[in-house]
Amino acid sequence: MKKEIIKFILNGEQVEVYVDPAKSLLHLLRNDFGLTGSKEGCGQGECGACTVLLDDLAVNSCLIPAGKVSGCSVVTIEALSRDGKPDFVQESFVEKGAVQCGFCSPGMIMSAHALLKQNPRPDAMEVRTAISGNLCRCTGYKQIEEAILLSAEKLNK
Ligand code: FES
Ligand code: FES
Repeated sequence: MKKEIIKFILNGEQVEVYVDPAKSLLHLLRNDFGLTGSKEGCGQGECGACTVLLDDLAVNSCLIPAGKVSGCSVVTIEALSRDGKPDFVQESFVEKGAVQCGFCSPGMIMSAHALLKQNPRPDAMEVRTAISGNLCRCTGYKQIEEAILLSAEKLNK
């Protein structure tokens, strides 16, 4: 296994790590940086539980080789709360009862952030499209859709 130094911005801070560039970004985040908010469901790009922002776009971190993030910005769910307080999207998920077991929630919330960065006023169909790669086995999606629409309302107040 050939290792190399990879430098990138992680949650706003410049970091560097000596790692196999073929290792997945998900395993890099969880195992090398201790950021376990991003979840591993399928490990194959099917469930979205591992979603993070890569240069502001939602990606399945289980499919991204660590070597590809060199020079990029990666944002994980851990970057959202401030002083232990949830951010406006996280709050909206709580207010709308969009979290049950919570396994999908970090990925859903990161997909919501990616959507709101590109489109601060999404309609319901655009929300559904944005989370179409995120699977939830608990909520039935309605509350998640409502939570993201509520987040957009808060953003535009
Ligand atoms: S763990 Fe990455 S898409 Fe399922
Ligand atoms: S809340 Fe359980 S998978 Fe979505």
